[in-house]
Amino acid sequence: MTYHSAVEAELARRRRLWRPLLVLVLIVLLAVVVLGIAVVLRVLPSGTPHYRSEDAHFRHGSIGAEPESGIPYKVWMALPELFPERFAPQGDYSAFGFLYDGETLPVGISRRTVSGVELVWFNCAVCHTGTVRANAEAAPELISGMPAQQLDLHGFTRFILDAATDPRVSPESLRAAMRDSGNALGPVEALIWRFAVFPRLREGMIDRAARLSPLLDRQPAWGPGRVDTFNPYKVLAFRQHARELTEGEVVGASDFPSIFLQGPREGMQLHWDGNNTSLAERNLSAALGAGVTPATADHPAIERIARWLRELPPPPSPHRPDPAAVDRGRAVYARDCAGCHGRQGDDGYVFEGARLGTVEPLANVGTDRARLDSYTQSFRDAQVRELFKGTPHAFRNFTKTDGYANAPLDGLWLRGPYLHNGSVPTLADLLAPPEARPPRFRRGGDVIDPQGGFVSPPCDGGPGCFDTALRGNSNAGHLWGTGLPVPEKSDLLAYLLTF
Ligand code: HEC
Ligand code: HEC
Repeated sequence: MTYHSAVEAELARRRRLWRPLLVLVLIVLLAVVVLGIAVVLRVLPSGTPHYRSEDAHFRHGSIGAEPESGIPYKVWMALPELFPERFAPQGDYSAFGFLYDGETLPVGISRRTVSGVELVWFNCAVCHTGTVRANAEAAPELISGMPAQQLDLHGFTRFILDAATDPRVSPESLRAAMRDSGNALGPVEALIWRFAVFPRLREGMIDRAARLSPLLDRQPAWGPGRVDTFNPYKVLAFRQHARELTEGEVVGASDFPSIFLQGPREGMQLHWDGNNTSLAERNLSAALGAGVTPATADHPAIERIARWLRELPPPPSPHRPDPAAVDRGRAVYARDCAGCHGRQGDDGYVFEGARLGTVEPLANVGTDRARLDSYTQSFRDAQVRELFKGTPHAFRNFTKTDGYANAPLDGLWLRGPYLHNGSVPTLADLLAPPEARPPRFRRGGDVIDPQGGFVSPPCDGGPGCFDTALRGNSNAGHLWGTGLPVPEKSDLLAYLLTF
Protein backbone atom coordinates (compact mmCIF):
# COMPACT_ATOMS: atom_id res chain seq x y z
CA MET A 1 0.00 0.00 0.00
CA THR A 2 1.45 3.38 -1.03
CA TYR A 3 1.42 6.28 1.33
CA HIS A 4 -1.20 8.06 -0.79
CA SER A 5 -3.71 5.28 -0.94
CA ALA A 6 -3.36 4.77 2.80
CA VAL A 7 -4.30 8.42 3.39
CA GLU A 8 -7.24 8.17 1.00
CA ALA A 9 -8.55 5.07 2.72
CA GLU A 10 -8.32 6.82 6.07
CA LEU A 11 -10.20 9.88 4.69
CA ALA A 12 -12.92 7.72 3.19
CA ARG A 13 -13.33 5.96 6.54
CA ARG A 14 -13.76 9.30 8.29
CA ARG A 15 -16.28 10.50 5.67
CA ARG A 16 -18.34 7.38 6.25
CA LEU A 17 -18.29 8.11 9.97
CA TRP A 18 -19.20 11.75 9.56
CA ARG A 19 -21.91 11.47 6.93
CA PRO A 20 -24.75 10.33 9.25
CA LEU A 21 -23.80 13.01 11.72
CA LEU A 22 -23.91 15.67 8.99
CA VAL A 23 -27.38 14.54 7.93
CA LEU A 24 -28.52 14.67 11.53
CA VAL A 25 -27.20 18.21 11.95
CA LEU A 26 -28.98 19.26 8.76
CA ILE A 27 -32.26 17.75 9.94
CA VAL A 28 -31.98 19.51 13.29
CA LEU A 29 -31.20 22.81 11.56
CA LEU A 30 -34.17 22.42 9.27
CA ALA A 31 -36.45 21.63 12.20
CA VAL A 32 -35.22 24.75 14.00
CA VAL A 33 -35.95 26.90 10.94
CA VAL A 34 -39.44 25.43 10.47
CA LEU A 35 -40.18 25.81 14.16
CA GLY A 36 -38.83 29.35 14.04
CA ILE A 37 -41.15 30.29 11.19
CA ALA A 38 -44.08 28.70 12.99
CA VAL A 39 -43.25 30.61 16.17
CA VAL A 40 -42.86 33.89 14.26
CA LEU A 41 -46.21 33.36 12.55
CA ARG A 42 -47.75 32.67 15.97
CA VAL A 43 -46.18 35.67 17.58
CA LEU A 44 -47.15 37.93 14.68
CA PRO A 45 -50.47 39.47 15.59
CA SER A 46 -53.80 38.07 14.38
CA GLY A 47 -57.22 39.51 15.13
CA THR A 48 -59.90 41.94 14.06
CA PRO A 49 -61.27 45.17 15.57
CA HIS A 50 -64.32 44.90 17.79
CA TYR A 51 -67.13 47.42 17.29
CA ARG A 52 -69.31 48.32 20.18
CA SER A 53 -72.49 49.36 18.41
CA GLU A 54 -74.43 46.78 16.41
CA ASP A 55 -74.67 49.10 13.44
CA ALA A 56 -70.89 49.72 13.37
CA HIS A 57 -70.30 45.96 13.66
CA PHE A 58 -72.66 45.43 10.71
CA ARG A 59 -70.98 48.10 8.60
CA HIS A 60 -67.34 47.53 9.53
CA GLY A 61 -66.96 44.32 11.55
CA SER A 62 -65.36 41.21 10.06
CA ILE A 63 -67.37 38.03 9.39
CA GLY A 64 -64.28 36.08 8.31
CA ALA A 65 -64.06 36.78 4.58
CA GLU A 66 -60.54 38.23 4.65
CA PRO A 67 -58.29 35.15 5.14
CA GLU A 68 -59.37 33.35 1.96
CA SER A 69 -60.81 36.11 -0.21
CA GLY A 70 -59.22 39.32 1.00
CA ILE A 71 -56.37 41.51 -0.16
CA PRO A 72 -53.88 43.33 2.09
CA TYR A 73 -55.08 46.64 3.48
CA LYS A 74 -51.99 48.35 2.10
CA VAL A 75 -52.75 47.05 -1.39
CA TRP A 76 -56.40 48.13 -1.08
CA MET A 77 -55.23 51.66 -0.22
CA ALA A 78 -52.65 51.66 -3.04
CA LEU A 79 -54.92 50.54 -5.89
CA PRO A 80 -56.49 53.99 -6.53
CA GLU A 81 -52.92 55.39 -6.86
CA LEU A 82 -51.98 52.69 -9.34
CA PHE A 83 -55.15 52.78 -11.44
CA PRO A 84 -56.31 56.41 -11.40
CA GLU A 85 -58.30 55.87 -14.62
CA ARG A 86 -60.48 53.19 -12.98
CA PHE A 87 -61.13 55.29 -9.86
CA ALA A 88 -61.96 58.52 -11.69
CA PRO A 89 -63.31 61.00 -10.97
CA GLN A 90 -63.58 60.43 -7.19
CA GLY A 91 -60.15 58.85 -6.69
CA ASP A 92 -61.53 56.37 -4.16
CA TYR A 93 -63.83 53.35 -4.07
CA SER A 94 -66.96 55.45 -4.40
CA ALA A 95 -66.11 55.27 -8.11
CA PHE A 96 -67.66 51.75 -7.93
CA GLY A 97 -70.51 52.85 -5.68
CA PHE A 98 -68.94 51.90 -2.36
CA LEU A 99 -70.22 54.14 0.45
CA TYR A 100 -68.15 56.01 3.03
CA ASP A 101 -69.42 56.90 6.50
CA GLY A 102 -66.35 58.59 7.96
CA GLU A 103 -64.09 55.54 8.35
CA THR A 104 -61.02 55.04 6.14
CA LEU A 105 -62.53 51.90 4.63
CA PRO A 106 -65.89 51.99 2.87
CA VAL A 107 -69.03 50.57 4.46
CA GLY A 108 -69.00 46.79 3.96
CA ILE A 109 -65.21 46.47 3.93
CA SER A 110 -63.79 44.96 7.10
CA ARG A 111 -60.27 44.24 8.29
CA ARG A 112 -58.61 41.26 9.91
CA THR A 113 -54.94 40.72 10.63
CA VAL A 114 -53.72 37.23 9.76
CA SER A 115 -50.15 36.35 10.86
CA GLY A 116 -49.06 39.96 10.83
CA VAL A 117 -50.65 40.95 7.53
CA GLU A 118 -53.74 43.12 7.70
CA LEU A 119 -56.28 41.96 5.12
CA VAL A 120 -59.56 43.54 4.04
CA TRP A 121 -62.67 42.21 2.32
CA PHE A 122 -66.48 42.21 2.27
CA ASN A 123 -69.01 41.87 5.03
CA CYS A 124 -72.82 41.87 4.83
CA ALA A 125 -73.13 45.66 4.64
CA VAL A 126 -71.41 45.92 1.26
CA CYS A 127 -74.57 44.59 -0.46
CA HIS A 128 -77.08 45.53 2.22
CA THR A 129 -76.49 49.24 2.89
CA GLY A 130 -77.67 51.97 0.54
CA THR A 131 -78.48 55.65 0.41
CA VAL A 132 -81.54 57.81 -0.15
CA ARG A 133 -81.98 61.48 -0.99
CA ALA A 134 -85.20 63.45 -0.83
CA ASN A 135 -84.08 65.36 -3.95
CA ALA A 136 -80.99 65.79 -6.13
CA GLU A 137 -79.63 68.60 -3.93
CA ALA A 138 -79.99 66.76 -0.61
CA ALA A 139 -77.07 64.96 1.07
CA PRO A 140 -77.34 61.16 0.82
CA GLU A 141 -78.52 59.38 3.97
CA LEU A 142 -77.03 55.93 4.62
CA ILE A 143 -79.47 53.23 5.66
CA SER A 144 -78.18 49.91 7.00
CA GLY A 145 -80.27 46.97 5.80
CA MET A 146 -81.56 48.47 2.57
CA PRO A 147 -80.23 47.19 -0.78
CA ALA A 148 -76.89 48.69 -1.89
CA GLN A 149 -78.65 49.88 -5.03
CA GLN A 150 -75.65 52.03 -6.05
CA LEU A 151 -72.91 49.37 -5.74
CA ASP A 152 -71.48 48.17 -9.05
CA LEU A 153 -70.08 44.86 -7.88
CA HIS A 154 -69.72 43.68 -11.46
CA GLY A 155 -67.56 46.69 -12.35
CA PHE A 156 -65.49 46.19 -9.21
CA THR A 157 -65.02 42.47 -9.88
CA ARG A 158 -63.97 43.20 -13.45
CA PHE A 159 -61.45 45.73 -12.17
CA ILE A 160 -59.90 43.24 -9.72
CA LEU A 161 -59.73 40.58 -12.44
CA ASP A 162 -58.10 42.99 -14.90
CA ALA A 163 -55.62 44.09 -12.23
CA ALA A 164 -54.50 40.46 -11.75
CA THR A 165 -52.68 40.47 -15.08
CA ASP A 166 -51.77 44.16 -15.18
CA PRO A 167 -48.02 44.87 -14.98
CA ARG A 168 -48.78 47.60 -12.45
CA VAL A 169 -49.51 44.90 -9.87
CA SER A 170 -45.78 44.06 -9.61
CA PRO A 171 -44.09 44.15 -6.18
CA GLU A 172 -42.01 47.20 -7.26
CA SER A 173 -44.84 49.43 -8.43
CA LEU A 174 -47.12 48.27 -5.60
CA ARG A 175 -44.44 49.21 -3.07
CA ALA A 176 -44.10 52.63 -4.66
CA ALA A 177 -47.87 53.16 -4.63
CA MET A 178 -48.05 52.00 -1.01
CA ARG A 179 -45.42 54.57 -0.12
CA ASP A 180 -47.32 57.28 -1.98
CA SER A 181 -50.57 56.42 -0.24
CA GLY A 182 -48.85 56.69 3.16
CA ASN A 183 -48.61 52.96 3.81
CA ALA A 184 -44.93 52.15 3.21
CA LEU A 185 -43.64 48.73 4.26
CA GLY A 186 -41.15 48.58 7.15
CA PRO A 187 -37.86 46.67 6.58
CA VAL A 188 -38.97 43.42 8.31
CA GLU A 189 -42.41 43.71 6.74
CA ALA A 190 -40.82 44.12 3.31
CA LEU A 191 -39.01 40.82 3.79
CA ILE A 192 -42.21 38.98 4.78
CA TRP A 193 -44.05 40.54 1.84
CA ARG A 194 -41.34 39.61 -0.62
CA PHE A 195 -41.46 35.91 0.22
CA ALA A 196 -44.98 35.37 1.54
CA VAL A 197 -47.39 38.16 0.61
CA PHE A 198 -46.62 39.35 -2.93
CA PRO A 199 -46.38 35.86 -4.50
CA ARG A 200 -49.61 34.74 -2.81
CA LEU A 201 -51.45 37.90 -3.77
CA ARG A 202 -50.56 37.55 -7.42
CA GLU A 203 -51.30 33.81 -7.54
CA GLY A 204 -54.62 34.32 -5.78
CA MET A 205 -55.67 37.10 -8.15
CA ILE A 206 -54.66 35.15 -11.24
CA ASP A 207 -56.48 32.03 -10.05
CA ARG A 208 -59.62 34.06 -9.35
CA ALA A 209 -59.40 35.76 -12.73
CA ALA A 210 -58.99 32.44 -14.52
CA ARG A 211 -62.15 31.10 -12.85
CA LEU A 212 -64.40 34.16 -12.88
CA SER A 213 -63.54 35.89 -16.16
CA PRO A 214 -64.93 33.13 -18.40
CA LEU A 215 -68.15 33.28 -16.36
CA LEU A 216 -68.50 37.07 -16.63
CA ASP A 217 -67.81 36.78 -20.36
CA ARG A 218 -70.97 34.69 -20.68
CA GLN A 219 -73.20 37.17 -18.80
CA PRO A 220 -74.62 40.65 -19.43
CA ALA A 221 -73.09 43.14 -16.94
CA TRP A 222 -75.13 42.96 -13.73
CA GLY A 223 -75.20 46.75 -13.38
CA PRO A 224 -75.39 48.55 -10.02
CA GLY A 225 -77.41 46.95 -7.22
CA ARG A 226 -77.22 43.39 -8.48
CA VAL A 227 -75.06 40.30 -8.20
CA ASP A 228 -75.24 36.81 -9.63
CA THR A 229 -76.00 34.92 -6.43
CA PHE A 230 -74.94 31.37 -7.21
CA ASN A 231 -72.88 31.10 -10.41
CA PRO A 232 -69.70 32.73 -9.04
CA TYR A 233 -69.99 30.30 -6.17
CA LYS A 234 -70.06 27.35 -8.54
CA VAL A 235 -66.81 28.35 -10.22
CA LEU A 236 -64.94 29.65 -7.14
CA ALA A 237 -65.86 27.30 -4.31
CA PHE A 238 -66.95 24.19 -6.22
CA ARG A 239 -64.29 24.77 -8.88
CA GLN A 240 -66.59 24.05 -11.79
CA HIS A 241 -65.35 25.56 -15.05
CA ALA A 242 -67.60 28.31 -16.42
CA ARG A 243 -67.64 26.32 -19.66
CA GLU A 244 -69.46 23.47 -17.90
CA LEU A 245 -72.42 25.66 -16.90
CA THR A 246 -75.40 25.09 -19.16
CA GLU A 247 -76.90 27.89 -21.25
CA GLY A 248 -79.99 27.69 -19.04
CA GLU A 249 -78.20 28.28 -15.73
CA VAL A 250 -75.34 30.64 -16.62
CA VAL A 251 -77.19 33.94 -16.04
CA GLY A 252 -78.53 34.56 -12.53
CA ALA A 253 -78.28 38.26 -11.68
CA SER A 254 -80.40 39.15 -8.64
CA ASP A 255 -81.36 42.47 -7.15
CA PHE A 256 -79.93 43.03 -3.66
CA PRO A 257 -82.87 42.57 -1.27
CA SER A 258 -83.55 44.52 1.91
CA ILE A 259 -82.92 42.48 5.06
CA PHE A 260 -85.00 44.18 7.77
CA LEU A 261 -87.08 42.32 10.36
CA GLN A 262 -85.70 38.84 9.80
CA GLY A 263 -87.30 37.43 12.99
CA PRO A 264 -90.84 37.16 11.60
CA ARG A 265 -89.36 35.56 8.46
CA GLU A 266 -88.11 32.49 10.34
CA GLY A 267 -89.52 29.40 8.64
CA MET A 268 -90.63 31.24 5.49
CA GLN A 269 -89.37 30.06 2.12
CA LEU A 270 -87.06 32.91 1.27
CA HIS A 271 -84.34 34.03 -1.07
CA TRP A 272 -85.90 35.23 -4.29
CA ASP A 273 -86.74 31.66 -5.34
CA GLY A 274 -87.65 30.59 -1.81
CA ASN A 275 -84.97 27.91 -1.75
CA ASN A 276 -84.35 27.95 2.00
CA THR A 277 -86.64 28.05 5.07
CA SER A 278 -83.87 28.35 7.66
CA LEU A 279 -82.85 31.84 8.71
CA ALA A 280 -79.50 30.61 10.07
CA GLU A 281 -78.67 28.92 6.77
CA ARG A 282 -79.69 31.94 4.74
CA ASN A 283 -77.35 34.08 6.84
CA LEU A 284 -74.51 31.59 6.56
CA SER A 285 -74.97 31.11 2.84
CA ALA A 286 -74.96 34.90 2.50
CA ALA A 287 -71.66 34.96 4.36
CA LEU A 288 -70.25 32.48 1.85
CA GLY A 289 -71.32 34.90 -0.87
CA ALA A 290 -69.23 37.56 0.85
CA GLY A 291 -66.11 35.40 0.55
CA VAL A 292 -66.25 33.54 3.87
CA THR A 293 -65.33 29.84 3.66
CA PRO A 294 -66.31 27.05 6.08
CA ALA A 295 -62.73 27.20 7.41
CA THR A 296 -62.67 30.97 8.01
CA ALA A 297 -66.27 31.77 9.04
CA ASP A 298 -66.44 33.91 12.18
CA HIS A 299 -69.66 32.38 13.52
CA PRO A 300 -70.03 34.63 16.60
CA ALA A 301 -69.64 37.74 14.40
CA ILE A 302 -72.22 36.44 11.90
CA GLU A 303 -74.62 35.45 14.67
CA ARG A 304 -74.31 38.89 16.22
CA ILE A 305 -75.47 40.44 12.95
CA ALA A 306 -78.20 37.84 12.55
CA ARG A 307 -79.56 38.64 16.04
CA TRP A 308 -79.59 42.35 15.26
CA LEU A 309 -81.34 41.83 11.91
CA ARG A 310 -84.14 39.86 13.56
CA GLU A 311 -85.59 43.09 14.91
CA LEU A 312 -84.07 45.81 12.73
CA PRO A 313 -87.07 47.80 11.43
CA PRO A 314 -87.05 49.65 8.11
CA PRO A 315 -87.20 53.44 8.57
CA PRO A 316 -90.76 54.69 7.99
CA SER A 317 -91.73 55.74 4.48
CA PRO A 318 -91.29 59.47 3.82
CA HIS A 319 -94.07 59.48 1.20
CA ARG A 320 -97.18 61.42 2.28
CA PRO A 321 -100.03 60.23 0.03
CA ASP A 322 -103.61 61.44 0.51
CA PRO A 323 -105.00 59.58 3.58
CA ALA A 324 -108.40 58.97 1.99
CA ALA A 325 -106.74 57.38 -1.05
CA VAL A 326 -104.59 55.27 1.28
CA ASP A 327 -107.72 53.97 3.04
CA ARG A 328 -109.37 53.03 -0.22
CA GLY A 329 -106.12 51.47 -1.45
CA ARG A 330 -105.87 49.38 1.71
CA ALA A 331 -109.11 47.63 0.75
CA VAL A 332 -107.92 46.96 -2.81
CA TYR A 333 -104.68 45.55 -1.46
CA ALA A 334 -106.48 43.39 1.13
CA ARG A 335 -108.52 41.88 -1.69
CA ASP A 336 -105.80 41.42 -4.35
CA CYS A 337 -102.40 41.29 -2.67
CA ALA A 338 -102.33 40.67 1.10
CA GLY A 339 -102.76 36.90 0.89
CA CYS A 340 -99.37 36.59 -0.77
CA HIS A 341 -97.50 39.52 0.77
CA GLY A 342 -98.88 40.36 4.26
CA ARG A 343 -99.70 44.03 4.81
CA GLN A 344 -98.63 47.34 6.30
CA GLY A 345 -100.49 48.02 9.55
CA ASP A 346 -100.62 51.19 11.63
CA ASP A 347 -97.83 49.98 13.94
CA GLY A 348 -95.61 48.27 11.42
CA TYR A 349 -95.75 45.35 9.08
CA VAL A 350 -98.17 42.47 9.65
CA PHE A 351 -96.56 39.19 8.61
CA GLU A 352 -99.81 37.31 7.95
CA GLY A 353 -101.21 35.91 4.74
CA ALA A 354 -102.37 32.47 3.64
CA ARG A 355 -99.57 32.19 1.06
CA LEU A 356 -97.02 34.55 2.61
CA GLY A 357 -93.53 33.05 2.61
CA THR A 358 -94.40 30.24 0.21
CA VAL A 359 -93.26 29.77 -3.37
CA GLU A 360 -95.54 30.78 -6.22
CA PRO A 361 -94.99 28.58 -9.30
CA LEU A 362 -93.27 30.44 -12.13
CA ALA A 363 -96.22 29.69 -14.40
CA ASN A 364 -98.37 31.98 -12.18
CA VAL A 365 -95.79 34.69 -11.60
CA GLY A 366 -94.49 34.93 -15.17
CA THR A 367 -91.36 36.92 -14.34
CA ASP A 368 -87.90 36.25 -15.79
CA ARG A 369 -86.81 32.66 -15.19
CA ALA A 370 -83.00 33.02 -15.30
CA ARG A 371 -82.46 33.46 -11.55
CA LEU A 372 -84.69 30.47 -10.80
CA ASP A 373 -82.85 28.28 -13.31
CA SER A 374 -79.40 29.39 -12.11
CA TYR A 375 -80.06 27.50 -8.88
CA THR A 376 -79.88 23.92 -10.11
CA GLN A 377 -80.66 20.64 -8.41
CA SER A 378 -77.05 19.51 -8.78
CA PHE A 379 -75.72 22.71 -7.19
CA ARG A 380 -78.24 22.26 -4.39
CA ASP A 381 -77.03 18.67 -3.87
CA ALA A 382 -73.39 19.81 -3.77
CA GLN A 383 -74.23 22.51 -1.18
CA VAL A 384 -75.99 20.03 1.08
CA ARG A 385 -73.31 17.36 0.61
CA GLU A 386 -70.26 19.53 1.17
CA LEU A 387 -70.84 22.81 2.97
CA PHE A 388 -69.96 22.73 6.67
CA LYS A 389 -70.25 18.93 6.54
CA GLY A 390 -69.70 17.22 9.87
CA THR A 391 -70.39 20.46 11.81
CA PRO A 392 -73.56 21.76 13.46
CA HIS A 393 -73.73 24.27 10.57
CA ALA A 394 -74.12 21.64 7.81
CA PHE A 395 -76.65 22.84 5.23
CA ARG A 396 -79.87 20.81 5.27
CA ASN A 397 -82.69 23.11 4.24
CA PHE A 398 -81.89 24.14 0.68
CA THR A 399 -84.42 22.90 -1.89
CA LYS A 400 -84.89 23.36 -5.61
CA THR A 401 -88.17 25.23 -6.15
CA ASP A 402 -90.31 25.93 -9.21
CA GLY A 403 -90.99 29.64 -8.81
CA TYR A 404 -90.44 32.81 -6.79
CA ALA A 405 -91.25 33.56 -3.16
CA ASN A 406 -94.28 35.49 -1.94
CA ALA A 407 -92.20 37.79 0.22
CA PRO A 408 -93.23 40.37 2.84
CA LEU A 409 -93.13 43.92 1.44
CA ASP A 410 -91.87 45.80 4.52
CA GLY A 411 -89.60 48.74 3.73
CA LEU A 412 -90.93 48.70 0.17
CA TRP A 413 -90.12 52.41 -0.32
CA LEU A 414 -86.39 51.66 -0.39
CA ARG A 415 -86.47 48.42 -2.36
CA GLY A 416 -86.61 49.82 -5.89
CA PRO A 417 -86.02 48.84 -8.66
CA TYR A 418 -88.54 46.05 -8.13
CA LEU A 419 -88.78 42.29 -8.74
CA HIS A 420 -86.02 39.75 -8.16
CA ASN A 421 -83.98 41.04 -11.09
CA GLY A 422 -84.67 44.72 -10.40
CA SER A 423 -86.22 45.14 -13.83
CA VAL A 424 -89.05 47.56 -12.91
CA PRO A 425 -88.01 51.02 -11.65
CA THR A 426 -91.08 52.19 -9.71
CA LEU A 427 -94.18 50.81 -8.01
CA ALA A 428 -96.35 52.65 -10.52
CA ASP A 429 -94.47 50.83 -13.31
CA LEU A 430 -95.07 47.49 -11.58
CA LEU A 431 -98.81 48.19 -11.61
CA ALA A 432 -98.63 48.93 -15.35
CA PRO A 433 -98.88 46.07 -17.85
CA PRO A 434 -95.41 44.79 -18.86
CA GLU A 435 -95.56 46.38 -22.33
CA ALA A 436 -96.00 49.79 -20.67
CA ARG A 437 -93.05 49.34 -18.26
CA PRO A 438 -89.81 51.21 -19.14
CA PRO A 439 -87.72 49.02 -21.49
CA ARG A 440 -84.39 50.72 -20.69
CA PHE A 441 -83.43 52.85 -17.70
CA ARG A 442 -80.55 53.81 -15.44
CA ARG A 443 -80.25 51.86 -12.19
CA GLY A 444 -78.34 52.98 -9.13
CA GLY A 445 -80.02 56.30 -8.36
CA ASP A 446 -80.94 57.26 -4.79
CA VAL A 447 -83.31 60.20 -5.28
CA ILE A 448 -86.77 59.18 -4.10
CA ASP A 449 -89.34 58.93 -6.89
CA PRO A 450 -92.90 59.99 -5.94
CA GLN A 451 -94.10 56.92 -7.87
CA GLY A 452 -92.26 54.61 -5.41
CA GLY A 453 -88.61 53.58 -5.76
CA PHE A 454 -85.84 55.83 -7.08
CA VAL A 455 -85.64 58.21 -10.03
CA SER A 456 -84.41 56.05 -12.93
CA PRO A 457 -84.01 58.10 -16.12
CA PRO A 458 -84.65 56.35 -19.45
CA CYS A 459 -81.59 55.58 -21.60
CA ASP A 460 -80.77 54.24 -25.08
CA GLY A 461 -78.73 51.15 -24.31
CA GLY A 462 -74.98 50.84 -24.05
CA PRO A 463 -72.85 50.61 -20.92
CA GLY A 464 -74.63 51.54 -17.71
CA CYS A 465 -78.07 51.34 -19.28
CA PHE A 466 -80.28 48.56 -17.90
CA ASP A 467 -81.84 46.84 -20.90
CA THR A 468 -84.82 44.59 -20.22
CA ALA A 469 -84.22 42.84 -23.56
CA LEU A 470 -81.02 41.20 -22.26
CA ARG A 471 -80.83 37.70 -20.76
CA GLY A 472 -82.07 37.66 -17.18
CA ASN A 473 -83.44 41.20 -17.36
CA SER A 474 -87.01 40.67 -18.56
CA ASN A 475 -89.62 42.92 -16.93
CA ALA A 476 -92.51 40.59 -17.83
CA GLY A 477 -94.96 39.01 -15.43
CA HIS A 478 -96.44 39.84 -12.01
CA LEU A 479 -99.71 40.93 -13.60
CA TRP A 480 -101.51 41.37 -10.29
CA GLY A 481 -102.98 44.85 -10.09
CA THR A 482 -102.14 45.73 -13.68
CA GLY A 483 -105.74 45.41 -14.88
CA LEU A 484 -107.37 47.50 -12.15
CA PRO A 485 -109.54 50.49 -13.09
CA VAL A 486 -107.50 53.71 -12.98
CA PRO A 487 -108.95 55.09 -9.70
CA GLU A 488 -108.39 51.79 -7.82
CA LYS A 489 -104.87 51.59 -9.18
CA SER A 490 -103.94 55.06 -7.94
CA ASP A 491 -105.50 54.29 -4.53
CA LEU A 492 -103.50 51.07 -4.37
CA LEU A 493 -100.31 52.99 -5.22
CA ALA A 494 -101.09 55.52 -2.47
CA TYR A 495 -101.34 52.68 0.07
CA LEU A 496 -98.16 50.96 -1.22
CA LEU A 497 -96.25 54.21 -0.77
CA THR A 498 -96.85 53.93 3.00
CA PHE A 499 -94.98 50.56 3.24
C1 HEC B 1 -72.18 40.10 -2.41
C2 HEC B 1 -73.38 40.71 -1.93
C3 HEC B 1 -73.98 40.19 -0.65
C4 HEC B 1 -73.36 40.06 0.55
C5 HEC B 1 -71.94 40.36 0.91
C6 HEC B 1 -74.38 39.57 1.45
N1 HEC B 1 -75.57 39.44 0.80
FE1 HEC B 1 -77.32 38.94 1.62
N2 HEC B 1 -78.13 38.77 -0.21
C7 HEC B 1 -77.54 39.16 -1.38
C8 HEC B 1 -78.40 38.81 -2.49
C9 HEC B 1 -78.13 39.08 -3.96
C10 HEC B 1 -79.51 38.17 -1.94
C11 HEC B 1 -80.68 37.56 -2.72
C12 HEC B 1 -80.24 36.17 -3.07
C13 HEC B 1 -81.12 35.47 -4.06
O1 HEC B 1 -82.20 35.01 -3.67
O2 HEC B 1 -80.72 35.34 -5.22
C14 HEC B 1 -79.31 38.16 -0.49
C15 HEC B 1 -80.22 37.64 0.42
C16 HEC B 1 -80.11 37.77 1.78
C17 HEC B 1 -81.14 37.41 2.73
C18 HEC B 1 -82.50 36.84 2.40
C19 HEC B 1 -83.44 37.95 2.12
C20 HEC B 1 -84.81 37.43 1.79
O3 HEC B 1 -85.74 37.97 2.36
O4 HEC B 1 -84.95 36.54 0.96
C21 HEC B 1 -80.64 37.66 3.97
C22 HEC B 1 -81.35 37.46 5.30
C23 HEC B 1 -79.31 38.16 3.79
N3 HEC B 1 -79.03 38.24 2.45
C24 HEC B 1 -78.48 38.51 4.81
C25 HEC B 1 -77.11 38.69 4.64
C26 HEC B 1 -76.16 38.65 5.71
C27 HEC B 1 -76.50 38.45 7.17
C28 HEC B 1 -74.94 38.82 5.14
C29 HEC B 1 -73.60 38.75 5.82
C30 HEC B 1 -73.36 37.56 6.58
C31 HEC B 1 -75.15 39.01 3.71
N4 HEC B 1 -76.48 38.92 3.45
C32 HEC B 1 -74.15 39.28 2.80
C33 HEC B 1 -76.31 39.79 -1.50
C34 HEC B 1 -75.36 39.79 -0.49
C1 HEC C 1 -100.15 34.84 -5.91
C2 HEC C 1 -99.22 35.62 -5.14
C3 HEC C 1 -99.07 37.09 -5.43
C4 HEC C 1 -100.07 38.04 -5.48
C5 HEC C 1 -101.58 37.83 -5.40
C6 HEC C 1 -99.40 39.29 -5.61
N1 HEC C 1 -98.05 39.12 -5.66
FE1 HEC C 1 -96.64 40.56 -5.64
N2 HEC C 1 -95.19 39.18 -5.85
C7 HEC C 1 -95.40 37.83 -5.88
C8 HEC C 1 -94.17 37.17 -6.19
C9 HEC C 1 -93.95 35.68 -6.33
C10 HEC C 1 -93.21 38.19 -6.34
C11 HEC C 1 -91.74 38.02 -6.72
C12 HEC C 1 -91.64 37.98 -8.25
C13 HEC C 1 -90.24 38.18 -8.76
O1 HEC C 1 -89.46 38.86 -8.12
O2 HEC C 1 -89.94 37.66 -9.85
C14 HEC C 1 -93.88 39.42 -6.09
C15 HEC C 1 -93.26 40.67 -6.09
C16 HEC C 1 -93.91 41.85 -5.76
C17 HEC C 1 -93.24 43.12 -5.58
C18 HEC C 1 -91.75 43.40 -5.71
C19 HEC C 1 -91.04 43.27 -4.38
C20 HEC C 1 -89.57 43.65 -4.45
O3 HEC C 1 -88.91 43.69 -3.41
O4 HEC C 1 -89.05 43.91 -5.54
C21 HEC C 1 -94.21 44.03 -5.28
C22 HEC C 1 -94.01 45.50 -5.00
C23 HEC C 1 -95.46 43.33 -5.30
N3 HEC C 1 -95.23 42.01 -5.56
C24 HEC C 1 -96.68 43.93 -5.09
C25 HEC C 1 -97.91 43.28 -5.27
C26 HEC C 1 -99.16 43.95 -5.26
C27 HEC C 1 -99.36 45.41 -5.08
C28 HEC C 1 -100.11 42.98 -5.45
C29 HEC C 1 -101.58 43.14 -5.56
C30 HEC C 1 -102.04 43.96 -6.66
C31 HEC C 1 -99.42 41.71 -5.54
N4 HEC C 1 -98.08 41.94 -5.44
C32 HEC C 1 -100.04 40.51 -5.68
C33 HEC C 1 -96.59 37.17 -5.62
C34 HEC C 1 -97.82 37.78 -5.56
